[in-house]
Amino acid sequence: MRLPSWLSILLLARAVSASPRDYERYDYFAVHLDSAVVPQEVAQRLGMQYEGLVGELSHHYTFSCLKDSCLDVEESLEELRRRKKRRRRRSDGSEPHNLRREIPLDLNGILWSEKQQLRHRHVKRIPPSPLLNGRAGQKAADSDIHQAADQEAVRRLDSIAETLDIKDPIFKEQWHLFNTRQLGHDLNVTGVWLDGITGNGSISAVIDDGLDLYSNDLKDNYFAEGSYDFNEKEPEPRPRLFDDHHGTRCAGEIAAVRNNVCGVGMAYDSKVAGIRILSKPISDEDEATAINYHFQENQIYSCSWGPPDDGATMEAPGILIQRALVNGVQSGRNGLGSVFVFAAGNGASNEDNCNFDGYTNSIYSITVGGIDRDGNHPYYSEHCSAQLVVTYSSGEQDAIHTTDVGTDKCFNGHGGTSAAGPLVVGTVALALSVRPDLSWRDLQYLCVETAVPIHLDDGGWQNTTIGKKFSHTYGYGKVDAYRFVEAAKSFESVKPQAWFHSPWISVQHAIPEGDLGLAASFQVTEGMLRDANLERLEHVTVTMNVEHGRRGDLSADLISPTGVVSRIATARGPDSAAAGYDDWTFMSVVHWGESGIGNWTVVVKDTTENEFNGTFIDWRLNLWGECIDPQIQGLHPLPDEHDDDHVTATAIVSTTSVAPGSSPTSLPAIPTSHIERPTKPKPSDATDTTATATATDITSVPAATTTLVPEPTHTYSDSFLPSFFPTFGVSKRTQIWIYGSIGLIVIFCSGLGVYFLVQRRKRLRNNPRDAYEFEMVGDADEDEQQSLNTRGGRGKARARRGGELYDAFAGESEDDLYSDDEAYQDTPSNDTGTGSRSDSLEGQEK
Ligand SMILES: *[C@@H]1O[C@H](CO)[C@@H](O)[C@H](O)[C@H]1NC(C)=O
Ligand SMILES: *[C@@H]1O[C@H](CO)[C@@H](O)[C@H](O)[C@H]1NC(C)=O
Ligand SMILES: *[C@@H]1O[C@H](CO)[C@@H](O)[C@H](O)[C@H]1NC(C)=O
Ligand SMILES: *[C@@H]1O[C@H](CO)[C@@H](O)[C@H](O)[C@H]1NC(C)=O
Ligand SMILES: *[C@@H]1O[C@H](CO)[C@@H](O)[C@H](O)[C@H]1NC(C)=O
Repeated sequence: MRLPSWLSILLLARAVSASPRDYERYDYFAVHLDSAVVPQEVAQRLGMQYEGLVGELSHHYTFSCLKDSCLDVEESLEELRRRKKRRRRRSDGSEPHNLRREIPLDLNGILWSEKQQLRHRHVKRIPPSPLLNGRAGQKAADSDIHQAADQEAVRRLDSIAETLDIKDPIFKEQWHLFNTRQLGHDLNVTGVWLDGITGNGSISAVIDDGLDLYSNDLKDNYFAEGSYDFNEKEPEPRPRLFDDHHGTRCAGEIAAVRNNVCGVGMAYDSKVAGIRILSKPISDEDEATAINYHFQENQIYSCSWGPPDDGATMEAPGILIQRALVNGVQSGRNGLGSVFVFAAGNGASNEDNCNFDGYTNSIYSITVGGIDRDGNHPYYSEHCSAQLVVTYSSGEQDAIHTTDVGTDKCFNGHGGTSAAGPLVVGTVALALSVRPDLSWRDLQYLCVETAVPIHLDDGGWQNTTIGKKFSHTYGYGKVDAYRFVEAAKSFESVKPQAWFHSPWISVQHAIPEGDLGLAASFQVTEGMLRDANLERLEHVTVTMNVEHGRRGDLSADLISPTGVVSRIATARGPDSAAAGYDDWTFMSVVHWGESGIGNWTVVVKDTTENEFNGTFIDWRLNLWGECIDPQIQGLHPLPDEHDDDHVTATAIVSTTSVAPGSSPTSLPAIPTSHIERPTKPKPSDATDTTATATATDITSVPAATTTLVPEPTHTYSDSFLPSFFPTFGVSKRTQIWIYGSIGLIVIFCSGLGVYFLVQRRKRLRNNPRDAYEFEMVGDADEDEQQSLNTRGGRGKARARRGGELYDAFAGESEDDLYSDDEAYQDTPSNDTGTGSRSDSLEGQEK
């Protein structure tokens, strides 16, 4: 359904993001409206002021009212949200679906809303030690004495500078561009320049604390149109606070001008915009606007910040920002996708890990860690399965030499992963200047394909299925700009992105402490991926619910069908939150190129034996990658706050315990009458008694029969594989989405096995694959058995368990499921949870 043209015109008349806000006197609300309503009319109906669009997000607007003057609206909006949540958690479709009647007429057309708050959320990714912050250069000067420059390299550098007419005074100090001391430890970029590729035509945007557009080293490459100060609501993002240096330094690394000031940037003929957000608290609305700011012109967004790297924080962007990220990759650069580059984080010495940061573990981000001037892993750079590449930054010896705030000022102490990210931004800018048609995913492929593995003797490298090497410390390796750009020249763009979302897989089992891990598997069949139009994997995400008294004790690994291991979560000493993992999504790039077909296993461990223990509630596997048939592939719906809603309380039906010693093949076939009771009713489930009733009705279920639960939007057939291990049937059907599009929803289900693994406790640092010589209890050799039995007192918890079955959709007909009221379903298929595919209207309307 196309929009009426008058409405399109109205929508095109976007208010510039920048209307001033006065949080002292007003309350602001971001709202997502049905495309059929007129925002000004809705605002008026609610007695609110219409403020304009939220950045580039279609049908998202900001309304305001005098502070505390619209409490009634606020309450109604909150009630609307509660009802939507409850409705989505219904297990049996029993809820009267006439929400329209229950909700005050006033709220008609409002799909989502959120009161805006000013918050200081992000820290700049400057390394934690004062030594490295400003004084490193001095230190470097001292230690340089110990390592003489290679005279041949010096001569080569001289000749390169002459050929390229580079007269910048600190160019020869910029070892990250050409290292004359530690040969080979640089970005290998000079060959790219000598080929005439210097960034012409590319535009990067540094989202940070400002950009000194009056610096003589930046002003000629400054891109005013793509720049904005969201802290001051002014067009010029110039630094204002005493410590607003960070963005300018990052910008210098990317695009410092080839002239007689300081050094040069990686892409010294490219343009750079400044988007200032870090100098004051900002709202989600502003951050969402910032990351899509001028996204037809700005191509690459350089983000050297994020939630604190203290090893205790676990924070993801709010829904509005998540939507802006997806909107960026779907609509930015005329559909090729904005390229987001995030600094991995500096919390390694706090045992932080970039999978606990919802920006760096986003599939939409190229996440970049650091290595130092000697090519070693610096103490600060975080490890994680979401990190694609590493590149040079500060360390023991030296830091990055770049531009600083001030007309002619330079800086020799720029560091942390903050300084690594922009070097990759510069590399991408070089590639885009010869291949502006590459998509955001093509550029991630180039990272995977051209990164150079380093330190093969440490870093826990494992061979991936496609013959690459991956390390949680170094990602796919260090960036080599020459290789990257060479490969870009002839890169064949990949087909559009497809995805497969598994149903929620219930585990509901206590996690044994110490050496044991609790494992749960999910079988992905060829048919599921064919139906999902998914050909080969890129990213894999796992959304998990784990309850635990001390979150930092937990770790989790994901093992692919080919045995490649992603350490998606690691134990973090400082993290004493009692929160567990609450619908947290971990991400891995380790499985890049795999087919995805087969058994996926998650192993959750409680690494510390102490008074804190926990329960693995449930999880869901999401595979993302290249599609099979581009003709039928749509865009993924924008994220929704209800995406992860599911009926936890009823997610389990039958469980089967197996005592140690039984043979593995019989494992899933031994049913018991042991029924796990729901242990994690979410707050809003308190009233959701239907769900609980379903679970308690079941007393004993033979392994192959099952029951159960449901997200209200799926159905399953009753067909099971004749395997001893339960696999589930598949059914398909279509669903009509009210937004006016018809999507094909294909639903899959599959088997789940839950069993214990006995694992020799090993630090996984050196060889993650070795560390997975776990054995199932039933398989354990004598010694293993012995130790099991003698550890005593916890035999039951250690018992292997298998054959936990469920059929999330049994008993519901399509008619029950898709009867009415989908008007309130704002983002079509992302609540379906299973390999759904549909054209999203959101984010596509122009
Ligand atoms: C570095 O660039 C040169 C060209 O300047 C190229 O010959 C060389 O292969 C590159 N290094 C690597 C490791 O690819
Ligand atoms: C940059 O590219 C534009 C066309 O996109 C061209 O007109 C211009 O001459 C180029 N500049 C340089 C320095 O190559
Ligand atoms: C990875 O493969 C290489 C051969 O390509 C082999 O030498 C090496 O031992 C393998 N590494 C691991 C950890 O299996
Ligand atoms: C999945 O893996 C588990 C553990 O390795 C195994 O017990 C189970 O039989 C596998 N399922 C299938 C269908 O292969
Ligand atoms: C977890 O700890 C609580 C309180 O200490 C205890 O009641 C419970 O039995 C423990 N559960 C497991 C599985 O050890």
